[in-house]
Amino acid sequence: MRFQLTSRGQTGAISNKYPSAVGGLRAWEGAGPLLVDESMALQAARDLFANGPWILRNLQIGRLKICPFEELISYVPVGASVLDVGCGRALFLSLLAALRRNIHGVGVDISEGAVRAAEMTVELVREKHGSSAIQIYCANHESLPEGSFQIVSMIDVIHHVPVQEQQQFFAAVVRHLAPGGLLLYKDMVSMPFWRVLANRLHDLLVSHEAIHEVPLSTVLLWAKSQALQCIQFGFVNRYWYGHEIAIFRKC
Ligand SMILES: C[S@@+](CC[C@H](N)C(=O)[O-])C[C@H]1O[C@@H](n2cnc3c(N)ncnc32)[C@H](O)[C@@H]1O
Repeated sequence: MRFQLTSRGQTGAISNKYPSAVGGLRAWEGAGPLLVDESMALQAARDLFANGPWILRNLQIGRLKICPFEELISYVPVGASVLDVGCGRALFLSLLAALRRNIHGVGVDISEGAVRAAEMTVELVREKHGSSAIQIYCANHESLPEGSFQIVSMIDVIHHVPVQEQQQFFAAVVRHLAPGGLLLYKDMVSMPFWRVLANRLHDLLVSHEAIHEVPLSTVLLWAKSQALQCIQFGFVNRYWYGHEIAIFRKC
């Protein structure tokens, strides 16, 4: 099913579909706002990072302005166990702690620098949102922590993985998804060309890496071969950045 996401520049048609999207996960009772929008996510980040180091605060808020995390947050129920692969500075997990409650989050990143920043973020989460527990590990997809999770997220990671390892990366991540759980996939678009170019330039400047975006059609095929059912997908543009999002349920 194709849908239109609510972010800036799109006409929204989200209605009430998220509760059914999370199906058996339930736990919506007592939740924060069911649907989270960009301004709510920004406010949560401003509150959370208000007393944090200046550089961390600005990096996190800057990231939130260009990346539509709110489209993913709305799929996560209160109390969910969440594995965020390629968690970076743990922005997604910290927003979940702020906008959902009692999150059991595990963040994994291959970069030691990212893990150090994520640990700073987790300190701030502990002070403000102590009901959630987040652990951070320095690891890659071949050494993910044991266990299966209700929610597994993969946000802007696969384009950093070498092309010949991307499908294997996807399969390794899916193995940690519990039956009935949701995979939240977000990456950069593979068309139109000018948005692809903008994304590539961004990564060259920011992470000094040449990236390899995967067409969403390829991801959908990989997902099918892993017994994942695509329950939603869509596209969001922020400034010159083009994002594609797909939500899968493990059968
Ligand atoms: C663009 S950042 C996104 C970070 C975070 N998901 C976010 O949205 O803010 C991509 C992250 O993926 C990490 N990464 C790349 N390849 C990885 C791998 N094979 N396993 C785990 N992390 C990886 C990088 O170190 C980087 O922190």
